[in-house]
Amino acid sequence: MALLPVPTGQREYVAFGSIRSDFDILEQPLMSTTTAPRNILDCIGNTSLVPLTHLVPATGARILLKIESENPTGSMKDRMALAMIEAAESDGRLAPGGSVVEYTAGSTGVSLSLVCGVKRYPLHIVTSDAFAQEKLDHMALLGARLHVLKSDGGRMTEKLTRDMIEAARIITEETGGFWTDQLNNRDQLAAYRVMADEIWAQTSGEIHAFVQSVGTAASLRGTAKRLRERTADV
Ligand SMILES: Cc1ncc(COP(=O)(O)O)c(C=O)c1O
Repeated sequence: MALLPVPTGQREYVAFGSIRSDFDILEQPLMSTTTAPRNILDCIGNTSLVPLTHLVPATGARILLKIESENPTGSMKDRMALAMIEAAESDGRLAPGGSVVEYTAGSTGVSLSLVCGVKRYPLHIVTSDAFAQEKLDHMALLGARLHVLKSDGGRMTEKLTRDMIEAARIITEETGGFWTDQLNNRDQLAAYRVMADEIWAQTSGEIHAFVQSVGTAASLRGTAKRLRERTADV
């Protein structure tokens, strides 16, 4: 992937000329030269929307893929991690240098590790050996302090979830930290309003259906709510 330099005032384009896939990606707008990133967190969002050109018959619907893997850690969770931290900063729940705590199987943890690493908040991640070692390694490499609970033979059980919640609660108390509590934190919805606005702008409002696989479903709820504020016809 290479950024092609362009004269000031024009948009920059990223070229994917060497990639062969079902996606006919040649040139996608990346960002305006007037908003040069100050750090990696400025690279969150503004992901490409790419048409599927080979899998869909010519007479079929126009299907566009939002390439969330373009976010710095490779997932859309970067958006919500940043939104939760920025909301806590702005209303004083998180002071400079304060600790952040979360229990997570991986993706949110990796994104929080990036955000907290850049912003220099010590991050305590409660997790388990039931989850992918790559995710645990990624969080640790980004500077998170991991509290790895032993699972029952690598299985995710209700007891393990209860134990992770309890461990997060204790660490929050002990550190006087801020528990992002992703499953109950509504600040993350702001991130998906932004994603919906990106989709709206990228399609010039020509969107009739939005499809997404879900985990907690927060991203689907946030995106759908915002799109429906724009048009009831989605
Ligand atoms: C990489 C990634 N993308 C998307 C999702 C789904 O998002 P949500 O939890 O908002 O439904 C998850 C988690 O469940 C995830 O890990």
